[in-house]
Amino acid sequence: MKSKIVVLCVVFAVLSAAVMAAEVIKKGPEKITLDGGSKGMIHFPHRNHQNNLGDCKICHSIFPQKLGIIKKLKAEGKLKKKRVMNNCRGCHRKLVKQGKKAGPTSCRKCHSK
Ligand code: HEC
Ligand code: HEC
Ligand code: HEC
Repeated sequence: MKSKIVVLCVVFAVLSAAVMAAEVIKKGPEKITLDGGSKGMIHFPHRNHQNNLGDCKICHSIFPQKLGIIKKLKAEGKLKKKRVMNNCRGCHRKLVKQGKKAGPTSCRKCHSK
């Protein structure tokens, strides 16, 4: 009897670990470095945005949930250069205008070399 309980506990622990791992994979990385061309890299806090904005579609209606996809689609001519950037910057600018907490709006605060 006791051993059955132990086995059940182990099974439960393994299952919940798997569910948690799946959750992490599905949400993608916490931080992402994006290619900003000649202007330099962008350090993008992904999880911060997921938690603050709630809606994945704000970004992922423009590009799929896949690392490196922005660069790839741009190279293939399927996504306009700066299209994603204008979405990022546009939201930050709107929030600043409303006097709310926002991310960077100046080139150098987003791009770093
Ligand atoms: C503010 C914009 C933004 C929001 C909101 C956002 N993401 Fe992302 N996400 C990105 C960017 C940028 C990338 C990286 C794309 C690239 O590298 O080209 C990305 C990549 C991903 C990836 C790919 C991970 C991999 O390993 O390939 C997953 C999964 C993902 N996001 C899930 C989500 C989910 C789920 C939500 C909503 C809870 C969400 N994202 C909300 C911008 C966002
Ligand atoms: C909120 C962050 C943010 C700000 C502010 C920002 N950028 Fe960007 N920029 C990005 C991101 C993300 C990309 C890559 C995705 C894209 O091309 O849309 C990018 C891409 C670029 C590119 C490369 C386009 C290409 O593929 O050739 C250039 C050049 C650029 N930005 C210039 C600027 C200039 C100039 C400013 C200031 C007027 C600026 N950026 C402000 C986030 C930002
Ligand atoms: C719909 C609105 C919205 C969009 C789209 C958005 N952001 Fe933000 N961003 C925010 C808000 C709100 C904050 C402030 C959150 C905080 O500091 O708690 C922020 C903060 C940031 C910060 C600063 C984080 C810190 O720790 O100081 C960076 C960098 C940033 N965003 C980059 C980006 C990039 C790059 C994109 C596009 C891929 C993007 N954001 C798209 C709303 C947005």
